[in-house]
Amino acid sequence: MDRFWLQCSKEVAHIFIVFEGVDGSGKSTQLNLLDKYLIQKGIKTLATREPGGTPVGEKIRELLLDPSYTEIMDRTEALLYAAARAQLVAQVIRPRLEQGTVVLCDRYIDSTLAYQGYGRGMDLPFLSKINELASGGLAPNLTVLLDLSPEEGLARSRKEKIADRLESQSLTFYHKVRRGYLELAQRKPELYLVLDARQNTEQLHQVICARIGGIIGV
Ligand code: TYD
Repeated sequence: MDRFWLQCSKEVAHIFIVFEGVDGSGKSTQLNLLDKYLIQKGIKTLATREPGGTPVGEKIRELLLDPSYTEIMDRTEALLYAAARAQLVAQVIRPRLEQGTVVLCDRYIDSTLAYQGYGRGMDLPFLSKINELASGGLAPNLTVLLDLSPEEGLARSRKEKIADRLESQSLTFYHKVRRGYLELAQRKPELYLVLDARQNTEQLHQVICARIGGIIGV
């Protein structure tokens, strides 16, 4: 019975993979392709996203992404992302990792460091502290960073009307976010796979599969 189970669905110890990048970098596409690849290999996976991934988190997501709440303060915003993350880690990510499921997450703590920290200029130690509390110190085994210029990302993924709304200040913000991501990756290069997101989808997928295959052993 055990052998049958192993053949059908291989369990691996605590593998947590995060995808990061500026809006439009193609991380969700790559996460979904990796998910399918791992499932085909017989690996148990769970794909989730931030903010969201739980009923409470999805409610917080609605609040955070609702453009009518222009009054949300930077600290409130950072704490709301952290609150959604705390719920996701406790309700979904940790229990699944403990069951041997490979967890793939679209955005995690680096999004807060890049967007609220580098983008909005909030204090990085403060952000690290609230996220340490929110996550209980859970860190990914690998972060796949899809690096792309904001101009390309926004032109690629956003509908015309949103791209048209961009003024130079918004682009400046996204440039800071991109720089933030690259700086985070440079600090701990062994924990990141930084890829030029201008490569085609299949090329990127192959590189990601090779690296993650090496970690999981498939
Ligand atoms: P979403 O529609 O999920 O964007 P994407 O498909 O690019 O992931 O919206 C999430 C937005 O929230 C995105 O602009 C990044 C931002 N964000 C933060 O600013 N801080 C965070 O901690 C997280 C998780 C997301």
